[in-house]
Amino acid sequence: MTRTLFTNIGQLVTNDEQARDPLGLIADAAIVIDNERVTWVGSAAAAEVSGGHDIDHVVDCGGRAVIPGFVDAHSHLVFAGDRATEFEARMSGAPYSAGGIRSTVRATRSASEGQLVDLLEHRAHELLRQGTTTFETKSGYHLDVAGEPLACKIARGVTDEVTFLGAHVIPAEYGGRGHEEARVIGTREDYVDLVCGAMLEASAPHARWIDVFCDEGAFTVAEAQRVLEAGMRAGLVPRLHAAQLAPNSAAIALGVQLGCASIDHCTYLTDDDVTLLASSSTVVTLLPGVEFSTRSPYPDARRLIDAGVTVAISTDCNPGSSYTSSMAFCVSLAVREMGMTTAEALWSATAGGARALLRTDVGRLVVGARADLVELDAPSYVHLAYRPGVPLTRRVWKNGVVVAQTIG
Ligand code: NIG
Ligand code: FE
Repeated sequence: MTRTLFTNIGQLVTNDEQARDPLGLIADAAIVIDNERVTWVGSAAAAEVSGGHDIDHVVDCGGRAVIPGFVDAHSHLVFAGDRATEFEARMSGAPYSAGGIRSTVRATRSASEGQLVDLLEHRAHELLRQGTTTFETKSGYHLDVAGEPLACKIARGVTDEVTFLGAHVIPAEYGGRGHEEARVIGTREDYVDLVCGAMLEASAPHARWIDVFCDEGAFTVAEAQRVLEAGMRAGLVPRLHAAQLAPNSAAIALGVQLGCASIDHCTYLTDDDVTLLASSSTVVTLLPGVEFSTRSPYPDARRLIDAGVTVAISTDCNPGSSYTSSMAFCVSLAVREMGMTTAEALWSATAGGARALLRTDVGRLVVGARADLVELDAPSYVHLAYRPGVPLTRRVWKNGVVVAQTIG
């Protein structure tokens, strides 16, 4: 067993639920880890008094802040190609629509398994370098019986949190956007049958979650219900994309009724939706990179938090609506544009993300938690929002092992 003492931490964010403040802050702190778990947390002075804990290594954090690794509960990382041209057109006034997904489907279907693995590993490392130590990612850019399970299998190589999203959009060959140029082989109902049948059966062994994009240009509430219920029968846990492009109270109600761990986007919510969400255990995962990259109005996080809804923040990293992998950037946006305090935004990007993934072992630095830590190149977590766009991740540990560092 290797025991490491992290000391001289100027400010430690623990997210300890027993603490008086929401972030469980400790000034001049220390942490002890035994291999991959946290075994002691307290003040640096107390760590010295308690006699060194038989320490094998000491990490001096030089007075800098340490936070739990970010938990990104929503990303779409298995894809090929990019949509820079579409982004550029949007910045010149074109609207975002779900239809753009099909150009990524074309590029992804033409990529080999090896190419997809390389792209995914590169992206997973990009997340890690920026302090994201746990992330969820989805299939959804193959939309066929061979490709969707392959995407789930590849994703399982980089994370435990894999989501089967065969219900991302209706592909052209089943009458979806672009069907004019495609050889149509069935109806949208046939496609939903396929998602609930052969595609699900082959994908489920590699996945933990089932998801549907339930919005304008994607799937209806009735279709979403079929897919989520089929996924649940196959042992997957439900989550949902809803109310990104327009209000959709029926989708919110469905997500709550089925006990979705999280409903994601929720850009357009009615007062009744907020009341319903507040009375449920479903987390709302907000994705401010989407509003940024599609020039859309931001959701009002203040209204959700004030109503008692549990809010997570994630990147939604994907080539269409939000091609950022930076949780720190999303924290800045949440603070600047969505009415959150920096403390709330950081909680949502760590502990909130863990709740959205039904995880109790990550998102916090308390005894028993995984030793997933980020040392910031700053004395306080507030710098995450105060210094937008600045790479503040100095060293990152996952399961007690350094996995990224910007110093020698
Ligand atoms: O979460 N909303 C659905 N899916 C993605 C967008 C995917 C894309 O445009 O390629 C999202 O925003
Ligand atoms: Fe998404």
